[in-house]
Amino acid sequence: MLSVREVVTSYGNVKALRGISLDAAENEITCLLGPNGAGKTTTMFTIAGILTPQSGTVMLDGKDVTRLPANKVVSKGIALVPENRLVFPRLNVEENLYAGAYSRRASAAEITADIKDIYRRFPPLEERRDQLAGTLSGGEQQMLAIGRGLMTRPKILLMDEPSIGLAPLVVAEIFNTIRELNEDGVTIFLVEQNARMALSVADKFYLIENGEITFSGSPGELEEDEVIHRAYLGTQKE
Ligand SMILES: Nc1ncnc2c1ncn2[C@@H]1O[C@H](COP(=O)(O)OP(=O)(O)OP(=O)(O)O)[C@@H](O)[C@H]1O
Ligand SMILES: [Mg+2]
Repeated sequence: MLSVREVVTSYGNVKALRGISLDAAENEITCLLGPNGAGKTTTMFTIAGILTPQSGTVMLDGKDVTRLPANKVVSKGIALVPENRLVFPRLNVEENLYAGAYSRRASAAEITADIKDIYRRFPPLEERRDQLAGTLSGGEQQMLAIGRGLMTRPKILLMDEPSIGLAPLVVAEIFNTIRELNEDGVTIFLVEQNARMALSVADKFYLIENGEITFSGSPGELEEDEVIHRAYLGTQKE
């Protein structure tokens, strides 16, 4: 469904992605793992149209989306749940969900129905529909960030480190949600610092180190310890 080919993205003189290629298949969970500064967020931003690559292509369903602006990329079906669960803190829960639907040409009735679906999936959000998003707990904000992404009706949901800074129990809940979304047919491309959890849900994973993809395979093809070591440290185990 998503196909990234030979993408080079730089910040000024710093080459953050040095020609990366990867694929995310429909209905699968694909994970991108790698140490801090490896280029994970840059990959997400490039796919989402927030950054434009110097060269290379990003294709969705066989269509080139490489040079589209971020709002157009969203309407093509790529939604990003950004790092640090950026919700609009001074809007309430329901307003945040409505904001997620801004790119759609949908009737008010369709949008209301979709918000109902989000509440069904995340009951704590319904209880807090009038609460300012900035006052939600970290786990609730993550639910809201995911819900807002789903409001775009994406073909593929990109999630950048959804578990970061959350307590272990909440992390487990977020991963349950990821699994359930996938069972309901949502294609997911996930960046995670929690390599063990990521591998437990992944159909396929990639390792990125210093702006290059250094490994791809299914969990089990590389020993878990080795993956985790490289995901954190970016070096092969001695
Ligand atoms: N706005 C920016 N300006 C200049 N350099 C940047 C910018 N954003 C990122 N970089 C650099 O690009 C490289 C990749 O950063 P990126 O944020 O993609 O890494 P990451 O894998 O997401 O790391 P983390 O695990 O810490 O989130 C790093 O060397 C970083 O310093
Ligand atoms: Mg990052």
